[in-house]
Amino acid sequence: AGSGTVTHGENCMFTNDTLKGRAALITGGGTGLGLEIATAYARLGAAVMLVGRNEDRVQSAADALNREGGQAAAAKCDVRNYDEVKAAVEAAVQRFGSLDILVNNAAGNFVCPSAELSPNGFRTVIDIDLNGTFYGCHAAYPHLKASKHGGSIISIITMLGVSGWPGAVHAASAKGGILSLSRTLAVEWGGDGIRVNTISPGPIGDTEGVKRMYIESGKGGLEAKKTALGRFGAKGDIANAAVYLASDLAGYITGDNLIVDGGRWLKYVAD
Ligand code: HXC
Repeated sequence: AGSGTVTHGENCMFTNDTLKGRAALITGGGTGLGLEIATAYARLGAAVMLVGRNEDRVQSAADALNREGGQAAAAKCDVRNYDEVKAAVEAAVQRFGSLDILVNNAAGNFVCPSAELSPNGFRTVIDIDLNGTFYGCHAAYPHLKASKHGGSIISIITMLGVSGWPGAVHAASAKGGILSLSRTLAVEWGGDGIRVNTISPGPIGDTEGVKRMYIESGKGGLEAKKTALGRFGAKGDIANAAVYLASDLAGYITGDNLIVDGGRWLKYVAD
């Protein structure tokens, strides 16, 4: 049984010009899943604008992509601030001439029982995940509408936003909200040629979220067993899904939620 993940390499299903001529903005693009998606996009021909709160981090990630022949730029941006999001979008258009793909990947969360969570703690995560996603969509809209390829919005959520997420009521509410937001925009903006989809990753090894939520508390083995495949995913699994949804291969897919979780959701429900 295959356990490896084919990512934008020799046996990649995508050709090197899959995203040629497109420009993408990726929030939280300096690390983790955001950087993995940005790297895949750059290798498949897209120009990428990486945005994040830590300017040095996004800038050095963009520099590294440029060194390997990609076309990348970076902008400091806290997605909680609409003006900063708007400025980052405009900077991408200025630099690359268009904006065709928006990936809402930036997220923040921490584990805290609901009864102990302060209103400000709840609001902080809603601000980053849900409001930040709306700000990105809103700021990008006119440019996505003008895209000659057709615009594509991809937001990273989790099925824990559908099933409920004890200890993370803020993030569960935000991710559930993003699912509904995306379905709404898919219908509203379909006539503008903009496709709006979400990806629901399961536990992806080597990410900050899994490290903090599972590994550090010694629950890594148990969490892996909760998936149907019995193992964590790789960051490339999510990047592949994000390439597919952004590309013409998914040209008739909108309002969808692509679950890339090794069957965790299904097994969770079945159990
Ligand atoms: C209880 C907490 C808390 C904690 C913060 N707060 N951490 N409450 N337990 N561990 C409360 C604070 O007390 C405060 O409320 C409010 O939240 C805001 O906290 P700040 O530290 O001022 O916020 P800020 O500096 O803006 O940081 C935001 C953050 C932080 C979300 C709290 O963790 C962050 O920046 N994270 C970004 C990176 C991140 O989380 N990445 C993980 C994504 S992984 P009061 O009332 O005291 O003012 C992911 C996938 C997970 O999403 C899925 C895995 C399967």
